[in-house]
Amino acid sequence: MTYDIVIKGGTIVSSHGETRADLGITGERVAAMGADLEGATIIDAKGKLVLPGAIDVHNHFQLPFCGTTSADDFENGSKAAAMGGVTTFLDFAIQAQPNSVLDTIAMRREEADPKVCIDYGLHPAITNWNADCKEELKKVIRDKGCPSFKMFMVYKAQGWQADDPALYGALTESAKHGGMVAVHAENNDLIEALQAAESGEGVPGCYAHALTRPAITEAEAINRAIMLAEATGGRLYIVHLSTGWGADIVNRARAWGIDVQAETGPQYLLLDDELFKREDGHHFGTCPPIRKPADQEKLWKRLADGTLEVLATDTCTFNSKQKAMWEGDYKKIPFGMPGIETLLPLTYTTGVRAGRITLGKMIQLLCENPARIMGMPTKGHLNVGADADVVIFDTEEEVTITPSVLTTNCDYSPYEGTKVKGWPMTTLSRGKMIVKDREFVGAAGQGKFIMREPNKG
Ligand code: URP
Ligand code: ZN
Ligand code: ZN
Repeated sequence: MTYDIVIKGGTIVSSHGETRADLGITGERVAAMGADLEGATIIDAKGKLVLPGAIDVHNHFQLPFCGTTSADDFENGSKAAAMGGVTTFLDFAIQAQPNSVLDTIAMRREEADPKVCIDYGLHPAITNWNADCKEELKKVIRDKGCPSFKMFMVYKAQGWQADDPALYGALTESAKHGGMVAVHAENNDLIEALQAAESGEGVPGCYAHALTRPAITEAEAINRAIMLAEATGGRLYIVHLSTGWGADIVNRARAWGIDVQAETGPQYLLLDDELFKREDGHHFGTCPPIRKPADQEKLWKRLADGTLEVLATDTCTFNSKQKAMWEGDYKKIPFGMPGIETLLPLTYTTGVRAGRITLGKMIQLLCENPARIMGMPTKGHLNVGADADVVIFDTEEEVTITPSVLTTNCDYSPYEGTKVKGWPMTTLSRGKMIVKDREFVGAAGQGKFIMREPNKG
């Protein structure tokens, strides 16, 4: 039997372990794993790791937000993703009132479908929960491939905030159809009150962003969302969890049997709020804010013990010109940072190499868990029948992170100067090579929209 492609001599990794074997690909799918496989095309992976492509479930490409539009569009953002070993991403279709959820999905797909270089899916973000949304939910979950929704507990000023009755209603309704509510957990009213009380005196610039969003503003919102999930039996997912306190609350809720899952991201593991005191501190402005070293330590622990099941980046790229729109007012920072391209290499170096997590745990956090939680059974693993989304990863490749080695449309990196050892060299998307030896060889429109599956309970 001759396969279309054989990836030869590498070490194939899953959460169950590492196997020295060839990987055979026919068409878009993994067809075999074994010794001495024959292929029409051979890719040499000797001495390298063969990983399932990473999945980043939290991105905002070309998002109009904070008076500008995020700088990585679907084409460049997904190209950057591929260069960083990400083969699937989920973005958001945020409802602009009074548009319906179904129309919102259709409009976002029109923007994304012709541009994406890798496979992608959408979380609709419900900003206007009402009887029509309730009516639409079953169709959105069952027929449109969008079984998870984002709801913002914050951003009242943007018109995006979902109040408690909205969350209660969405959790109740989505549970009936196998859906999941993903919340941005910050207490809007408390943040606004702290902002009103913040005189700015003696506070260095954008450090006020951290001061007015202390840990309680996230922890309280997480706790409230969990209670609403418990009361309704709804499935809950906490996006970009940033505090140790929040992670402990999730841990306790899970021990009580409440259906809550959570993600954190490299920005919360590796960056701390002292950065806001730098002249370029506003570059690090994101919501929730980056936190304290003690939070970082607790988040690593909660990743290792399984409380936090997903690493995702919340990529929302604003370049330095866009970030300059803050003009000294921390409330006007365009909130968000680049990240999708450095997710895998940073996790490998700062997690696996540093001994904080195992290689198998990394595969769970970046591949297996996101695929399972977000309803993508053919993604996140390299078993026979899986989509041939594959990364050949060189554990010896040394890279110093700086914009000139990256593809993102950003002229700075939050991780500037970080030395990583281990980099994705070659990426395949459904059996097609899209990155070859760190050169992009894919094309816009090659990615497909993923019809994600509802939770079967
Ligand atoms: O500051 C952030 N995180 N920007 C993107 C929008 C969001 O809240 O996820
Ligand atoms: Zn958010
Ligand atoms: Zn986000």
